[in-house]
Amino acid sequence: MPIMRHQIGINALLGLALGLSALASLSARAADIAAGKEKAELCVGCHGEAGISQTENIPSLAGEPDQFVQWQLVFFRAGSRRNEQMQPIVEQINNDDIRNLGAYFASLTPPRASAPDDNPDLSKKGAQAAVGRRCASCHTDSFAGTKAVARLAGQREEYLIKALHDYKSGVRSGGGMAAMAEVAYPLSEEEITALAHYLAHL
Ligand code: HEC
Ligand code: HEC
Repeated sequence: MPIMRHQIGINALLGLALGLSALASLSARAADIAAGKEKAELCVGCHGEAGISQTENIPSLAGEPDQFVQWQLVFFRAGSRRNEQMQPIVEQINNDDIRNLGAYFASLTPPRASAPDDNPDLSKKGAQAAVGRRCASCHTDSFAGTKAVARLAGQREEYLIKALHDYKSGVRSGGGMAAMAEVAYPLSEEEITALAHYLAHL
């Protein structure tokens, strides 16, 4: 296990170095939301109309922080985050597109819980776990996210579970500082289930 965790650190650092140079060139000009919307026609089939996903294991992007979207696209492009479905997409977008897409998705109305909470007890456990693990210290009190930190409120429940499993197992190393790998590593299955249920219903 220690060897594997070391490996993740190196990959994450490499991703960060590649990402930083891309993001530096991204900030040179103002974003164009209309152009982002046009480019986002490539995304609708999977991420849904207006960035609200209707598909299992595909995240909603509406209301995600601008920087978070940009960073994830940079990570996919750099190969420090891997996904078969996203790979061909990032091969078709340049730095201008990434900047415009970030601004466009951030401008959309965030997802709302699509169904009423069918398990309030589980949500209560999730809320307690979120306090105990200090999730809001980075994700903000409303879990809307900020800067490179993802929005969690209203995200698809099964995707939140998948993401936490991916951090925990090291499949996903996250934003250079490996903050989420550190956070997810000690989480129990029970906590993960409860956290995802709670956050998806915010
Ligand atoms: C063929 C389906 C498909 C298409 C088309 C697609 N995506 Fe994705 N996207 C995915 C999947 C699946 C994931 C989740 C990857 C994972 O589980 O790690 C994802 C993840 C993401 C993420 C990370 C979000 C998060 O919450 O972690 C971003 C950002 C993203 N996609 C942006 C885009 C953009 C922008 C486009 C269009 C230019 C696009 N995607 C097109 C399937 C797709
Ligand atoms: C030290 C700051 C920090 C703390 C504490 C933290 N997070 Fe995160 N979280 C982040 C960052 C930064 C990201 C984006 C990482 C990346 O680039 O993959 C993230 C991403 C995520 C994602 C992926 C979302 C997506 O759309 O892909 C989930 C799920 C998540 N966090 C859940 C949690 C939960 C649950 C807790 C509490 C148990 C928590 N986080 C605590 C910083 C933090």
